[in-house]
Amino acid sequence: MFYSSILRQPAWTQAGCQPRENGTCSSGTRSTWSALLRPLRTLREHLMNDETKTDPWAGFARGWFMLRFSDELEAGQVVPLRRFDRELVLFRTASGEAKVLDAYCPHMGAHLGHGGKIVGEGIVCPFHAWKFDGTGKCIEIPYAKRIPPKAGLSCWPVRERNGMIFVWHDREKSEPDWEIPVLEEWEDPEFLPWRHAKLQIKTPPLAIAENLADAGHFIPVHNTHPVPGSFSNTYADHIGEQKIKAIAYPVHGGKDEFESKATYYGPAYQVTKMFGKGLGVIINAHTPIDAENVMLRFAVSMKATKGMTDELIEHFINNMRDGYLQDVQIWENKIYLDRPMLCDGDGPIGEFRRWYAQFYTPRNEAADAAE
Ligand code: FES
Ligand SMILES: [Fe+2]
Repeated sequence: MFYSSILRQPAWTQAGCQPRENGTCSSGTRSTWSALLRPLRTLREHLMNDETKTDPWAGFARGWFMLRFSDELEAGQVVPLRRFDRELVLFRTASGEAKVLDAYCPHMGAHLGHGGKIVGEGIVCPFHAWKFDGTGKCIEIPYAKRIPPKAGLSCWPVRERNGMIFVWHDREKSEPDWEIPVLEEWEDPEFLPWRHAKLQIKTPPLAIAENLADAGHFIPVHNTHPVPGSFSNTYADHIGEQKIKAIAYPVHGGKDEFESKATYYGPAYQVTKMFGKGLGVIINAHTPIDAENVMLRFAVSMKATKGMTDELIEHFINNMRDGYLQDVQIWENKIYLDRPMLCDGDGPIGEFRRWYAQFYTPRNEAADAAE
């Protein structure tokens, strides 16, 4: 795209001559280096402009992102993580608090996630044993009398809800302005033990979240036939919701008439409740690793009702899990289209993108846009 834009530039930007006020050009004999470098600067500007023009989702969204299920992080465990194109360290203190800090030690740059040790409520750097508390403040240097006043690491807001560990990402570094709601089914003894899994996939986050508005994919991807007129989306604040009634012919056989409600809380955490032969719940959460890759974590469970056999439960859970993997196959291989060629019968993709854009827009501008 930028090649054709460059070709449309005035001749002086290509040939290195000096512009005159009237727009004509003449050969430049002074500032030869400057003239030679100008086309490179022009190219760079075009590249940058091209990126911002074609990628409205540059950077990462504001919101809560799941890092792990709680049972994937034991007390005293230290985990190096790359998320949001940044190196982080996730750890659980001796008392059980999950914490996330920037990974690189301000002393001499060691990565706390590789060899850092938990001592009490803090983490000790593997290189020279500086100790940081859960807020990132340096609280001990074993060989020094004085701790440099600015010694510290950036601390990321963390919540542990519904057996999951979330981190708040916000380029503006503001406090969270909404919370992950309690999912009653997570602790409900009538629900079967949750099964969860993770999967790294190569796709931008938008592709995953946009599924919420995609009315046309149910039949070809899931062999699920919506009841005409039953598909709807609603968007309010940070919550986006999809409702549908359908007849599914799932991967592992059978036929299931169901109604479902799929709710995104923010840009990256979704809870889907399916009411059919039983009540099933699917959680999916995606967290960017970098601009092209996300780590996807999902969990499924269902309510154990009377007369339900182990075989039926297994069958239902496998169907939920593998139905989800059908989406993954598409996401991993699709490209992003800034202007998809939509038709009647498609879901409200534009409405979805306007809602989703709030998570990429600075807060004050998002508030102005909402008014
Ligand atoms: S690099 Fe961390 S204590 Fe020296
Ligand atoms: Fe889907």
